[in-house]
Amino acid sequence: MNILRIALEAVWFILPAYIANGTPVVISHIIKGGIPIDRGKNFLDGRRILGNGKTIEGFMAGTLVGTFTAFLQAIIANNSSILFFGFLLSLGAMVGDLIGSFIKRRLGLARGAPAPLLDQLDFLLGAVFFAWLGGAYIPHSYMVVLIILTPILHFTTNYIAYRLKLKSVPW
Ligand code: CTP
Ligand code: MG
Repeated sequence: MNILRIALEAVWFILPAYIANGTPVVISHIIKGGIPIDRGKNFLDGRRILGNGKTIEGFMAGTLVGTFTAFLQAIIANNSSILFFGFLLSLGAMVGDLIGSFIKRRLGLARGAPAPLLDQLDFLLGAVFFAWLGGAYIPHSYMVVLIILTPILHFTTNYIAYRLKLKSVPW
């Protein structure tokens, strides 16, 4: 079926970003007490810039593990450009996630508070934007699939992480 094929291709394309986004949750349980990227500092509004949920360790691990995923994909598909775009997708996912937290803090939401759609889509949009900056061709059909599928997958995987006690909240 054509739609299934497009969905699988879209997920294959975005996979480094998905892996990058999930990595910090796991890493935070291995490396305890990571260093907050904002170093505990507040923004002009007196609230944290990003909050304790965004650490240097998480950011770097996400970018690295996502890029490693792309390295494996490049070998499987015998296409070295996947490595380049996978790096951009991973880095973009981590930056998008930071922007999401920045917006949440500006809205007065505490670390870990749910922000529907923002929590699920910030990293996706960051990843796609970075890959696009790098010259990736991203069909519109991929975007339609990913904007629908990502929140569903995000909630499912976060619920599993919650049940595994990797996360304290299921979002
Ligand atoms: N994490 C991290 N460093 C990052 C991103 C995530 O250490 N750059 C870890 C943190 O332990 C974080 C967890 O992954 O709690 C889940 O990430 P996320 O849901 O994005 O963070 P929240 O704690 O929900 O914080 P926020 O409200 O800012 O989204
Ligand atoms: Mg969260």
